[in-house]
Amino acid sequence: MNTEIVTLDEKEIDPVIIARAGEIIKNGGLVAFPTETVYGLGGDAFNPDSSRKIYAAKGRPSDNPLIVHIADTEDLKKVTSEIPVSAQKLADAFWPGPLTMIFKKSPDIPRETTGGLDTVAVRMPSDRIAAEFIKASGGFVAAPSANLSGKPSPTEARYVIEDMNGRIDMIIDGGESQVGLESTIVDLTEDTPVILRPGYITEKMISEVLGSEVIFDKAIVEVASDVAPKAPGMKYRHYAPKAPLTIVEGDPGDVVAKINELGNQDNACGKKVAVIASSENIPGYDGSFIIKDVGSFDHEEEAAHLLFRTLRELDDQGADVIYSEAFKESGVGYATMNRLIKAAGHHILKIRR
Ligand code: TXA
Ligand code: MG
Repeated sequence: MNTEIVTLDEKEIDPVIIARAGEIIKNGGLVAFPTETVYGLGGDAFNPDSSRKIYAAKGRPSDNPLIVHIADTEDLKKVTSEIPVSAQKLADAFWPGPLTMIFKKSPDIPRETTGGLDTVAVRMPSDRIAAEFIKASGGFVAAPSANLSGKPSPTEARYVIEDMNGRIDMIIDGGESQVGLESTIVDLTEDTPVILRPGYITEKMISEVLGSEVIFDKAIVEVASDVAPKAPGMKYRHYAPKAPLTIVEGDPGDVVAKINELGNQDNACGKKVAVIASSENIPGYDGSFIIKDVGSFDHEEEAAHLLFRTLRELDDQGADVIYSEAFKESGVGYATMNRLIKAAGHHILKIRR
């Protein structure tokens, strides 16, 4: 298949291109598009064939449900069968934005889109290109992240092109994703809201708006356990760079010393060593390593923004082995660590004194 690659500027969105992208979706085709979190791989949410095509293009298991993207809160009614008060409050506070909510689904949404579930995930992105594209597509775009299954989610069009060129109809390049991690997912189908995937919208922000307790799905908290996650997608191997990745956790001085020691051993075996590091620690590392700066300890948004790109760049640079510092788990740092732990396949080295 020939994939058309187009570039859009969010300050001056070309209506002709947007209309063409919308036509592709209405005709059952697939278009990758930018959002503020990561790039999405979109198809018509009401068309079961489009959802099947999405699974095929991604190489994704079809029991892993897709998120339905809307551009108008009123449209929530058309994809759900029940809208709890809590959801209305969260929509008022965080939509458009990086929050996905789980609802009981409307019978009109095909099970192909929801991976066979009776519930549906819905999000209204804030990215302007995404919003215009969704409107032009008829208002309901089912979309997972636009990566091949297992790879880091794409935060730039060039990574979408790498994974999807030849597999879909169109790729819209709208520049770098602002947040860099996928949306927070909160399940509102039970009495207590449950966070199924942490993200930029934190537990604290959600519980403040609701004025009530919010809990994390057990599978997130007990990371090393075999509790089955409620978001089916969270169970798969994810975000993995080609090289094995180890997280080293402890006091900064100890972490730097340990990574230098392990990295030098790898170097001696002829391996190309890479380190994902906080700005403050960089001067301490051996000069022979590929060093990836993901920002200061105190800027957790920066590490969130850079993590997936960094993992992709390390693939391109041919790293043979990767070490990463652990990040502070406050705010969005919690979400960054959640993705990093998955990328590392739970391989964490804890240094205790
Ligand atoms: O930021 C995002 O959410 C991006 C952009 C493109 O919007 N999308 C994204 O989609 O990350 P995806 O498919 O890569 O991740 C969706 C996650 C999966 O873990 C899936 O299992 C979960 O949402 N999910 C979808 N529908 C669900 C449902 N009804 N119940 C529980 N989990 C659901
Ligand atoms: Mg994904």
